[in-house]
Amino acid sequence: MQEFHYEGAQLTCEDVPLTQVAQRFGTPLYVYSKESIVDHCRHLEKAFNGQAHTTCYAVKANSNRAILEIIKDQGFGADVNSQGELFLALQAGFDPDRVTFSGVGKQDDEIRYALKNKIYAFNVESREEIEVLNSIAGAMGKVGRILLRVNLDIDAGGHAYISTSLKQNKFGVSLREAREILQWAKALPNIEIRGLHSHIGSQIQKVETFASAAKVLVEFIKDLRSSGLVIHELDFGGGFGVQYRGYIRHEQLPQEGGEEMNISAAVLVKTVLPLLQEAACAIAIQPGRSIIAHPGVLITKVLYRKQTEEKLFVIVDGGMNDLLRPSLYNAYHQLVPLELKNRPHEVADIVGPLCETGDFFARDRLVPQLHRGEYAALMCAGAYGYALSSNYNARPRPAEILVDGSAMRVIRERETLNDL
Ligand SMILES: Cc1ncc(COP(=O)(O)O)c(C=O)c1O
Repeated sequence: MQEFHYEGAQLTCEDVPLTQVAQRFGTPLYVYSKESIVDHCRHLEKAFNGQAHTTCYAVKANSNRAILEIIKDQGFGADVNSQGELFLALQAGFDPDRVTFSGVGKQDDEIRYALKNKIYAFNVESREEIEVLNSIAGAMGKVGRILLRVNLDIDAGGHAYISTSLKQNKFGVSLREAREILQWAKALPNIEIRGLHSHIGSQIQKVETFASAAKVLVEFIKDLRSSGLVIHELDFGGGFGVQYRGYIRHEQLPQEGGEEMNISAAVLVKTVLPLLQEAACAIAIQPGRSIIAHPGVLITKVLYRKQTEEKLFVIVDGGMNDLLRPSLYNAYHQLVPLELKNRPHEVADIVGPLCETGDFFARDRLVPQLHRGEYAALMCAGAYGYALSSNYNARPRPAEILVDGSAMRVIRERETLNDL
């Protein structure tokens, strides 16, 4: 699954040298490999080894329509977090009966839109949300299927902003509350309880974290059953970690390593599956990052080098408005040149043009030396890359290109000044 690799000195996506793509479409630029998207879907699905399940791609990770279509064609359902994401999923052709709607703050018109479009279920997060769903569904002569999101109070590690299952987080309800809410919701005329939902965080790298979540959920489901509640389904969420450091390996690149080197989302799923099966429920998962992080890169061009008394800055044309993850979560993206050229390595800050000290892609990082006009790729930028982009500093958003073999297709035009 190395659709990004060096052919000689050229970083290549499938059959296309990325320098060609950058020269043709300009930078900053998101480029995706179709083959890599398909491979990541298949690889994850293989982990189930034929066992019945539903995989709902978390649309928030990357909601480009062309990408959604590819994922839908792999037989996936979709998990959406807003009316907009549901709209895009439906446009991409996802079967509404394989769509779930997650999120703590669904608005009334979003609930109406979802019911009208006959989505499979709402992953609900509070008693009040269930009340509202019950009343909207009743007014529409419909029934809202629900999975109640539980907050397991588990520390999934990683950055605080992507942990979702600590009791101080806004997500889900505690197990004690869940029991009461389910007993109460059983009697509501326009609600059908399908089961439980849990999503403990993102970029989780340890199988033990998923295993402890699975064990608690299974015990809880058994307990609920013994008190007369019918639980058909368990949606285990997403969060399967991926390798960011050292994704591209080459003798001319600085060595990057660490624990991340051995992560495989498929292995995480495969290991936790036998535990989940003990719940005797239909199983669903909602992966985002593990499908679309690796298949995308952000290409950027060097504008200037600036040596201060303190540091060397390499200033590039992409910024935090294009790829927010480093600024927001201190996230790591490997930075590699599009042309190798036996470059010396140097320690530098790779920064963007925006008016923020937080506008950086790498800090004090050993990187191959890059000069004005040269291109570099930030690897593994397909998930939460374009999806988190903005027009901050009145910067038009970049274009998105899909490579398929030797073909390149614009799947989103670069914004222009008139779009601002
Ligand atoms: C409810 C829910 N499901 C799935 C995901 C996808 O997580 P990931 O991209 O880490 O797989 C998220 C992401 O935050 C989420 O909030």
